[in-house]
Amino acid sequence: MKGIVIEGGERLVGEVRVSGAKNAALPALAAALLVEGPCTFTNCPRLRDVDTFQALLENLGARFQWQGQGEIEVDTAGITGVTAPYDLVKTMRASVLILGPLLARMGEAMVSLPGGCAIGARPVDLHLKGLQKLGAEIELEHGYIKARAKRLTGAPLYLDIPTVTGTENLMMAAVTAEGTTVIENAACEPEVEDLAAILTTMGAKIVGAGTSVVTIEGVKRLRPARYAVMPDRIEAGTLMVAAGMTRGNIMLKECRLEHLEAVVAKLRDVGIEITPLKNGEVRVVGDGRVRSADIKTLPYPGFPTDMQAQFMALMTVANGLSAITENIFENRFMHVSELKRMAADIRVQGATAIVTGVPRLSGAQVMATDLRASASLVLAGLAAEGTTVISRAYHLERGYDDLVGKLAALGADVKEVDLDEDAGEQRQGV
Ligand code: UD1
Repeated sequence: MKGIVIEGGERLVGEVRVSGAKNAALPALAAALLVEGPCTFTNCPRLRDVDTFQALLENLGARFQWQGQGEIEVDTAGITGVTAPYDLVKTMRASVLILGPLLARMGEAMVSLPGGCAIGARPVDLHLKGLQKLGAEIELEHGYIKARAKRLTGAPLYLDIPTVTGTENLMMAAVTAEGTTVIENAACEPEVEDLAAILTTMGAKIVGAGTSVVTIEGVKRLRPARYAVMPDRIEAGTLMVAAGMTRGNIMLKECRLEHLEAVVAKLRDVGIEITPLKNGEVRVVGDGRVRSADIKTLPYPGFPTDMQAQFMALMTVANGLSAITENIFENRFMHVSELKRMAADIRVQGATAIVTGVPRLSGAQVMATDLRASASLVLAGLAAEGTTVISRAYHLERGYDDLVGKLAALGADVKEVDLDEDAGEQRQGV
C-alpha cells in the first residue's frame, strides 16, 4: 500500500496546471447515461474515483475509454444493467449520481445505499424524496434503493438542504421528464452549473443552474456531446495553501478565481498574496508567517467544507488563534488528532476547532483518514521540520490528480513509497 514521505521545509516555486474537477467529472460521466451514443469529456482528472465510476458504468454495459491526456469517451448505447453494487458504492458515495439518470433512461435503477462514511452519516433521503415527487416508486430492500418509473413527470421540488449531488441527481432525472421541474433551494456550487452546461450541450433545457432556483423543461431525447470539464477549485485552493505554508511563489494555470472567492478572501486576509494574471493564470506568493483568521464552512458561495482541513493546516502555523467551524458534515475533524501528532495545538469544542498557531510543526508518522484530511497532512508535512510519513495515502488518490508529482515539480521533497500498512493498523489499535 502506498504512503507518502515528505521532508519539510522546501519552498515551492514554479508553475503548475490545475486539473479538471473531480466533482464535475463524476456528474458528467453520470450524464452520459442519458444519451444513446458516444459522449466525449475532456480535461478529466486521473483519479481513483473516476476509475470507480468507470467500473460502475462498465458494470451496466457501457463502453468507457481514456483516449489520451484527460479525454474520456463513454458510450452507454448498449447498457442493459440497472445496478450499482455495494462493492463500488461503498468506496465512493458519489456512485449515487447514477440513480437519477439511470432511472430516467431505463425506467428502473438499483443502487446500493451508501451507508456511513468517514466524515459523517451523509444520508440520501432528499435525493429519494425528490425522485418520488417526479413519480418514481422507491423501495429500500436488502441494502439497496430500488427505483422504478415508466416515465418521470416534472414537478415542483424543494430541498430541505441544498445538497450538491442531490440537486445534480434530480436535474438529471428531470431533463427527460414530461413537463417542467422547478428545484428550489438547489445547491449553487459551480459543479452544478457545469453539469447544467453539459446537459444543455446535450439538448436539455435548464435555466438558473448556479442559483438556488433551477428550472428544467423536459425534452424527449438528448444527443451525444463533447464537453471540457471545469478546473478543480479545491485542488487550486489546496495549492494556494501549499504556497502560503512554504513561503512559496507559484503560478497556477487554469485556475478560475471566480469559483474561489470565499477561499481567496480568507487567504488574502491571512497574508497570502493572490494575483490574477491573464488567461486563467494566478500568482500565489507566501510571504512570511501567516496571520490567523476564523472560518465557518457553508454551502457555496460560502467557505467550502472541502477546504476546511487544508485551511486548518494553514492555521496550525499562523500567528494567533483561529476558530474553524464545520457546518456541513458532523464528523469532519478526523485530521485534528493527526495534526496534533505533528505538534499542532488544536482543541475541538463541538463543531468548532480552536487552533493556536505554533511557529513550526514537527514531522511525524500520521495516517490519512479521508480525502481532504490527507491533503491537510501533506500540507502540514511540507511546512514541518523533519520527516512526515503519511500512511493510507490512497485517500489522496481518490480525489487529487498526481498531487505528489505536482508538488515535487514545484520543488517539494515529497515522494510515494510502499509502506507496510499493517504497522499503521497496529498503531490505530493502540
Ligand atoms: C458534495 C461533494 C463533496 C462536498 C459536499 C459539500 C461531490 C461528488 N461531492 O457531496 O465533495 O464535500 O458536496 O459541499 O460533489 N444531506 C442530507 N440528505 C440528503 C443529502 C444530503 O441530509 O439527501 C446532508 C448531508 O448529510 C450534509 C449536507 O446535506 O450534511 C450536504 O451534503 P451534500 O451537499 O449532499 O454533499 P454531497 O453531495 O454528498
